[in-house]
Amino acid sequence: MSRTRVLRPDEKSLALAAGLLRDGGLVAFPTETVYGLGARAYDAAAARRVYKAKGRPSDNPLIVHVADEAMLADVVKRVTPLARRLIDAFWPGPLTLILEKSARVPGAVTAGGRTVAVRCPGHPAARALIRALGEPIAAPSANLSGRPSPTTAAHVLRDLRGRVPLILDGGPCRKGLESTIVDARGLRPVVLRHGTITGESLSRAAGVPLRAPGGSAPASPGTGHRHYAPACRVILAPPALVRRGALALDASGDGLLHRAPWPGRRPAFARRVRGGASAYATALFSALRDAEAAGVRTLYVETVPDRGVGRAVMDRLRRAARR
Ligand code: TXA
Ligand code: MG
Repeated sequence: MSRTRVLRPDEKSLALAAGLLRDGGLVAFPTETVYGLGARAYDAAAARRVYKAKGRPSDNPLIVHVADEAMLADVVKRVTPLARRLIDAFWPGPLTLILEKSARVPGAVTAGGRTVAVRCPGHPAARALIRALGEPIAAPSANLSGRPSPTTAAHVLRDLRGRVPLILDGGPCRKGLESTIVDARGLRPVVLRHGTITGESLSRAAGVPLRAPGGSAPASPGTGHRHYAPACRVILAPPALVRRGALALDASGDGLLHRAPWPGRRPAFARRVRGGASAYATALFSALRDAEAAGVRTLYVETVPDRGVGRAVMDRLRRAARR
């Protein structure tokens, strides 16, 4: 494949996208979290194309995106009472549930497992695409495996040009971090991947405390892989060091992503994000990719308190900083 088209989602491009999916092809599309690389969820060969296009390890299952309850019922064996409460509270939205899969979902989507990750996105273009296909769409984030998740169509194009025929460009993603993943098979929610829906709000909606992962709960395979790595080195910097200007930034090769004021000399790449942890979450992946595009060799990133949405931000940052 060589040509990749980038189109705004409208009636015509959505029909084109649905046709590509129906034929077993791939389409990248926006969601409120990050862009996804979609294929028909009920088509094993199409799912395998997703792995190939991303260079994704075959042991890392995909998320199935549904538009409504009827599609959910086709994807899972049973909606547990816990899942029901979380769905009522958070769908459509950035919450992925792990449940027992139905016989319709091929092993190529679940990496051979008996469980399936399912989510109902809130983004209108994502919902319109699923509806146009009339079936669930399996989609991981639309980045090359190991790279930061894409939050704009340009990010997708950079990673997947020539590997996907169509990218639906819905503008920048509102949340900017991937969905919260919760194992909802038992009585208590188990958070497998942190996201913008926090543990506190999950526990409140479920009416029970969270259960810690580990023990019999399966870890989310993808969270063990190397992730979120831009081409530049990432170094975490506590706010106090930023505020005091106490980072030895080299003016040519270094960059800074920060919230607190930086009193020192501006490095070649500097981005200040005003606002709380949610604003930081929205800006994070874009900043990592922009720093990389600006030729930054070492990017200093100010940390945020490790709670609420900040927990998800710090989870991604620690992985980005791991070498
Ligand atoms: O916000 C999101 O979740 C985005 C958008 C496109 O929906 N998708 C996304 O997909 O982040 P991906 O493939 O990059 O991450 C999916 C994660 C992986 O860590 C994978 O291991 C986990 O979901 N996962 C998928 N199926 C699972 C299962 N049955 N049990 C446990 N974890 C699962
Ligand atoms: Mg991903």
